[in-house]
Amino acid sequence: MPPQRKLFVTTALPYANGKFHIGHIMEYIQADIWVRYQRMHGHMVHFVGADDAHGAAIMISAEKAGVSPQEFVAGISAGRREYLDGFHILFDNWHTTASPENKELVQAIYLRLQQNGLITTRNVEQFYDPVKGMFLPDRFIKGECPNCHSKDQYGDACEVCSSVYSPTDLINPYSTLTGAAPELRSSGHFFFKLSDPDVVAFLKGWTQDGKLQPEMARKASEWFEAGMNDWDISRDAPYFGIEIPDAPGKYFYVWLDAPIGYLASLKNHFDKGQAQNHWHPPSRTDANFDDFMADPAVEQVHFIGKDIVYFHTLFWPAMLEFSGRKTPSQVNVHGFITVSGEKMSKSRGTGIDPLRYLSLGMNAEWLRYYIAAKLNGKVEDVDFNPDDFVARVNADLIGKYVNIASRAVKFLEGGKLVASHVDRLEPARLVDTVKDLYEAREYGKALREIMASADAVNLRFDSAAPWKLVKEGKRAEAAQVCSECIEMFKVLTACLKPVLPELALHAEAFLKCLPLDWKNAAVPLGEGHHVGDYKHLMHRVDAKQMDALFEPAEEAAAAAQMPPPPFDKLRTGQASAEGAGSGKPGGEEVAPAITIDDFAKVDLRIAKILDCQGVEASNKLLRLTLDIGEATPRNVFAGIASAYKPEELVGKLTVMVANLAPRKMKFGVSEGMVLAASHADPGSQPGIFILNPWPGAQPGMRIR
Ligand code: MSP
Ligand code: ZN
Repeated sequence: MPPQRKLFVTTALPYANGKFHIGHIMEYIQADIWVRYQRMHGHMVHFVGADDAHGAAIMISAEKAGVSPQEFVAGISAGRREYLDGFHILFDNWHTTASPENKELVQAIYLRLQQNGLITTRNVEQFYDPVKGMFLPDRFIKGECPNCHSKDQYGDACEVCSSVYSPTDLINPYSTLTGAAPELRSSGHFFFKLSDPDVVAFLKGWTQDGKLQPEMARKASEWFEAGMNDWDISRDAPYFGIEIPDAPGKYFYVWLDAPIGYLASLKNHFDKGQAQNHWHPPSRTDANFDDFMADPAVEQVHFIGKDIVYFHTLFWPAMLEFSGRKTPSQVNVHGFITVSGEKMSKSRGTGIDPLRYLSLGMNAEWLRYYIAAKLNGKVEDVDFNPDDFVARVNADLIGKYVNIASRAVKFLEGGKLVASHVDRLEPARLVDTVKDLYEAREYGKALREIMASADAVNLRFDSAAPWKLVKEGKRAEAAQVCSECIEMFKVLTACLKPVLPELALHAEAFLKCLPLDWKNAAVPLGEGHHVGDYKHLMHRVDAKQMDALFEPAEEAAAAAQMPPPPFDKLRTGQASAEGAGSGKPGGEEVAPAITIDDFAKVDLRIAKILDCQGVEASNKLLRLTLDIGEATPRNVFAGIASAYKPEELVGKLTVMVANLAPRKMKFGVSEGMVLAASHADPGSQPGIFILNPWPGAQPGMRIR
């Protein structure tokens, strides 16, 4: 057994301006598996997270919501636990960067950097929104990337080529708050001297000595070749953040205080004392935060996504090193999760809503397993594919693993194990292999090893055919085979435990064994051990649940195509009576007035229906292929299957909204919307009518 490790583990601190999405959950699952794996060694782990509460974006979101930034972030923070508990993510503490601990640490670190001569000030010409009356944060300016010339890139970094720059480098910038062309105004700013030769020399060493994945170390070298710029760490009021000491009206840029929030959350965890840690059963603690962090044996490990590498491999270690603190031991970078090959995007409503997943009664451990099966130690994207999910979970977890216990226990009299040759199935080799793979975050490989072993166990069971042995009166032989299988089921349970902690608890109860860890994983339960009654350990995924999971996007898109949900049946007669003169034409009030400019935003075009098909597994939708005179026809889903047969529509002209943001649906991407008329109460009036222009209109013509 290696000496006990002391680990301080974090995940990136999520912006407190929105709910968790599946990308956050993926990161937490990755880190949580690693932490649980470490705890099974008996290592000491402090695993903390926090909300990243500061910055102009949150200030502006709060303003829009009509509350103070503090109230706004408290509201977001209150929603976190439901997700974390729901997916069995066992943080020891969850804190916020808008906390006294963070303020204290941020100011202390800054003062040390200043004492070390690494802070400098100079005037900066910065973009100012003359309409809004404030300096514009990088994220609120968009324009063309100066490096690769991609359009609509943010002011701080390019999402296409990953280069980092200042907003004034953007070509044709605009304010995303007001659309105004920003004006340059001068203001005094504070800088962290990243270009200082000592800092550069430190980072060149730090990034190349095994703390980073090889591809990230290579990325860092490229950054050095491009040259290090000093880092602008201040922002002018109004700003939601931490004040810079002795600099009225100046605040620390959110990316300066955010990573320090890792330390703040850990400090808060220590200061509360483990007894007061209401989040989860606390891990063992050393004396206090300062002693713990001063201990050279403590390893600081960060899990982050590929979009925030620059901050974590350059700014952050430099800040720590030159303020006399421990620097990270590992920065583990993961790729992004896509859904059916599509990037998730809040604005397009794609992705999987984690809370909806849970509320549908879907098992959190299915998702943990599926994501783990796709993860490796590299910076690669992970795709969530609904069909693959169903197939994988059912085949592996139910078909291979759970199956062993349910089949084998039947042939053990009174649940009693007999002496067996379990060693032939190589439990120790499996455990050793799997341990190394977890350590290296090669979860996919670990699970493949585990499932290969489960296959071998099932094969052993099938070829020995204990049900036949029993018929032939060879009960002892049957019991021996099944004892082997149950012993291996125990080993497999231990191996799966970091990924499936709840299932492992139930399996341990069935096995009547001690909590499984790496020390006891391969030690046989042994002759004479009694296991309990088998209760079903896990249900199969029902493909219908998967449909329901993707329903919201589908519904939302189809809702625009369909009448609203039926009114209360009692009102049906009333609704149908509402015709001319009722004030509610078509059963609903006329919407509030808009200006011609509002209307002009909607780009309506004549579209030719080139093709039309039913959508399998949906009785509401038709898939239309529409020509509006573009190089490639559009794919549009419309909730009109109740009213039209596909063949009635092919070749006809209709009207579509051509500039509606594309929407990912379960069946594909919908690239617009066709217009249709209906009464507010579908029960009272005949159905849905799509529009058809007068003869002569040509595909692509705009309707105004
Ligand atoms: N607040 C910063 C991090 C500060 S750390 C001191 C931030 N927040 S975030 O909410 O945008 O992202 C939090 C984490 O989620 C990041 O590691 C990010 O890479 C990760 N992900 C965001 N979208 C993701 C996917 N689609 N897939 C996987 N992870 C993704 O960045
Ligand atoms: Zn670029």
